[in-house]
Amino acid sequence: MADEQLTGKRALVLGASKWQVPLIRQAQSMGLEVVATDMNPKAVGLKIADYGEVVDILDADANTDVAIKHNVDAVMTDQTDYALNVVAKVASRLVIPGPSVGVAKNCTNKKLMREITSARNISNPEFYIAESLVDARLAASDIGFPLIIKPTDNQGSRGVFKINNQKQLIDLFADSIKHSRDGQILVEEYIQGTEVTVEGFVADGELHTLAISEKEHTPPPRIIAMNLNFPPSFDKKTIEKIKRTASDVASALGMTNGPYHGEFMVNQDGVFLIEAAYRGGGSGTSSHIVPAVSGVNVLEKLVLVSLGYKVKIKPTRNDACILKFLQFKPGHVKNIIGLWKASRVDGVRLFEINYHATEIMPSVTDDSKRHGAIIVSAPTLSEAKRNLDMAVSMAKIIYEAPTVKPEGLNMAGQVRAKSAQ
Ligand SMILES: Nc1ncnc2c1ncn2[C@@H]1O[C@H](COP(=O)(O)OP(=O)(O)OP(=O)(O)O)[C@@H](O)[C@H]1O
Ligand SMILES: [Mg+2]
Repeated sequence: MADEQLTGKRALVLGASKWQVPLIRQAQSMGLEVVATDMNPKAVGLKIADYGEVVDILDADANTDVAIKHNVDAVMTDQTDYALNVVAKVASRLVIPGPSVGVAKNCTNKKLMREITSARNISNPEFYIAESLVDARLAASDIGFPLIIKPTDNQGSRGVFKINNQKQLIDLFADSIKHSRDGQILVEEYIQGTEVTVEGFVADGELHTLAISEKEHTPPPRIIAMNLNFPPSFDKKTIEKIKRTASDVASALGMTNGPYHGEFMVNQDGVFLIEAAYRGGGSGTSSHIVPAVSGVNVLEKLVLVSLGYKVKIKPTRNDACILKFLQFKPGHVKNIIGLWKASRVDGVRLFEINYHATEIMPSVTDDSKRHGAIIVSAPTLSEAKRNLDMAVSMAKIIYEAPTVKPEGLNMAGQVRAKSAQ
C-alpha cells in the first residue's frame, strides 16, 4: 500500500492503554492521523496519538461524537473485546468499514458464541446459563464437577473459576457474576486437555492461521495464563485439526476481515472451543509475537482493512517464540535491577515489569495484576527457552523491608487451590 494513498486519513482507535500503543504507532507510521479515546486521562496512548480524547470506550454515543468531530475514515481496536461492540456501532453510524454490530456481539458474548458454534457442530463444552446461584446449582447437578463458571461478557480471566464441589460453587458464584455486565454466567463442563491459542488474520472471510501456541496456567481455581509456547508440541494431524476448527469458528461467528485470536482445549476427543475473539491476541501477541513467528505485520493489515482495503496474508517464516508472564514475590518494590541488560539478550522482543520502585507488587488474582512479561523468539523453542531463562535470571527485584507476614504473601489462587483439594 503506497503511503501517499493513506497520508492525511484519520483513524479512531478505541483504547489507549500501553497495549494499544503499537496499533497507534503503526497507523501513524503509515501516514494516518490517530484519534485515541480512553476513559483514563493518564492512558499513555492519549499522548502518543495526534488527538487524545478522554472518553469511555464502552460509550458508543460519545465515541460516535468523537468520530464525527474528527471526521475519521476508520475506527478500530486491537487488544480489547470490550471496545469491539462500540467499534462496530461507530462504523455503522458513520458508514465506514468495520465489523457489523451482530458479528461484534457474536465475538464478544461467550453465551452467543457457544450457541452459534454448537449449532454448527463445533465441539463446545456442555454449557448452561445461570443468573442465580440456584440456576448454577441446577446446572452443576447436570454437568457434574469439576466445572467452570465464567461471566458471559468479560475478559482477562475476571470471574473465571474451576469449581470442584458444591461448597466452592457457593463460595465463588458471587465473585464470578459480579464481573458479568449482563448479569449472566456460563456454567460449563470442565474440559481436561492441553490449551492452545490460534493467532491469525481473517481476509475476505478466510482465516489465515499465523501462529499456534500451547498455554500453561496458574493452578486452579483461578485460571491465569502464565506461559505460551509457539509452536505447540502436537503432531501434524492435530495441528491441521486445530486450524480447521479455528477456521470453522471464524466463519460461524461471521468474521470477514480482521485479526483473530482463538483459544481451544485439545484432548483425545477433539478440539473444543474455549473462546474466539475478533481482535489481536493480548500482551504483545499481535504486535510482537505474530510478526516474530510468521513475518506478518498483523497491525498493518488491521489498519488497512479498517480503511476498507483488501489485504493478502503471506507468512514469510515459521519461528518459535515464548511469552512468559512473570511472577515475583508480592511486596513493596524498592528497586529493579538488570532489566536493560536482560532486554538485550538474543531474541528478546519485549521485557517489562509492570511495577516500579515505591509501588506495591500485589498477588496475581487476574490478568490485570500480572507482574510483567517477556517475549523471546528464536529459530527453535529450545533456543528461545535458553535465552529467556538467561534474560529472566538477569533481572532482580529489590524489596523494601517486608511489612506483610510471609503467609499473606501467597497468591490468592494458590491459597484457595489448596483449600479446595
Ligand atoms: N470449559 C472449560 N474447560 C477447561 N478450561 C476452561 C474452560 N473454560 C475456560 N477455561 C480455562 O480458563 C481460561 C480463561 O477462560 P476464558 O478464556 O473463557 O476467560 P477470559 O476471561 O476470556 O480469559 P482471557 O482473557 O485470559 O482469555 C481459559 O484460557 C482456559 O484455560
Ligand atoms: Mg480467554
